[in-house]
Amino acid sequence: MIKNQWYGIMDAKELKNNKLIGVTRLGEKLVLWRSENGEINCIFDKCCHRGASLSAGKVTHDSVKCPFHGLAYDGSGKVIEIPANGKNTPVPDRYKVNAYAVKEMYGFIWLWYGDYSAELPEIPFFEYLRQGFSYGGFSEMWPVHYTRAIENQLDVVHLPFVHTNSIGRGNKTLVNGPVVKWQDNRMTFYVHNVVDDGHLKPLKPKEIENYKDYFSLELQMPNIWQNKISPDVRIVAVFAPIDEEHTRIYLRFYQKFIKLPVLKQIVNRFSNIGNRYILHQDRHVVLTQKPIKTELRMDENLIQGDLPIIEYRKRRDLLKAGHK
Ligand code: FES
Ligand SMILES: [Fe+2]
Repeated sequence: MIKNQWYGIMDAKELKNNKLIGVTRLGEKLVLWRSENGEINCIFDKCCHRGASLSAGKVTHDSVKCPFHGLAYDGSGKVIEIPANGKNTPVPDRYKVNAYAVKEMYGFIWLWYGDYSAELPEIPFFEYLRQGFSYGGFSEMWPVHYTRAIENQLDVVHLPFVHTNSIGRGNKTLVNGPVVKWQDNRMTFYVHNVVDDGHLKPLKPKEIENYKDYFSLELQMPNIWQNKISPDVRIVAVFAPIDEEHTRIYLRFYQKFIKLPVLKQIVNRFSNIGNRYILHQDRHVVLTQKPIKTELRMDENLIQGDLPIIEYRKRRDLLKAGHK
């Protein structure tokens, strides 16, 4: 995992008031809950006393009580009470578990995976989608590392093969470019696939001047993606890393052409039927890829059309090396 990044990890709706939720994210078992003031807490889900799972306990007054012997934890992971020692006995500092900084924004829960500081950077969600849109979504678990799941959404070569009867209709197998541009840690890639009449050669990225007229998609490092269908319609995916072998994909349909409350809910829900169908076409193939995690240097023979994937792998390595 790349350190010092905000990761989208869950849909905010999964976290109910006065309830603990136990999840595995970024390879750790975590317990999350909302404080009475609405803030979200996230600490490791393993009691420092004798290892019981805190998510099986109770939330009481902004703290979590372990179900085994009642040790109470605050949102920073510190034990604030050991009932068997009596209320008047101070709790030594070593009674604590690790905690993560988490925030709820744009309908997702975000986790800061890295060095804690009072001034964390802004959550890098797509500015254009921050207001004015309504959305509906769903999630599903894929038994692959999140690099595989992300790279599938950067793959512009697979469309006419995997999505023959949906978004890849028309047998446009020849891939021009694609053109890849970076701004900070956000990649925009421009796609223009065409039918191969036997006389064409794919254009090289630098031969394409009018790339801005092409269809484009974006990847914000480390784990959010946007398909820019039109100014009013977008599809967003959050690839939440569960562990080295699993990813939960949160897929959302965003639109702003229908404003009527009931109607927009129906449209958003209906669109996700199509999105799920397309995602399952991908899943069918991606789950067969070996290995289930990717690296910049690995045993694959990439082609020009894979440029967004190559760029993604390079950027991962840069960020892992500490590049901001
Ligand atoms: S194991 Fe949690 S209080 Fe003992
Ligand atoms: Fe696909």
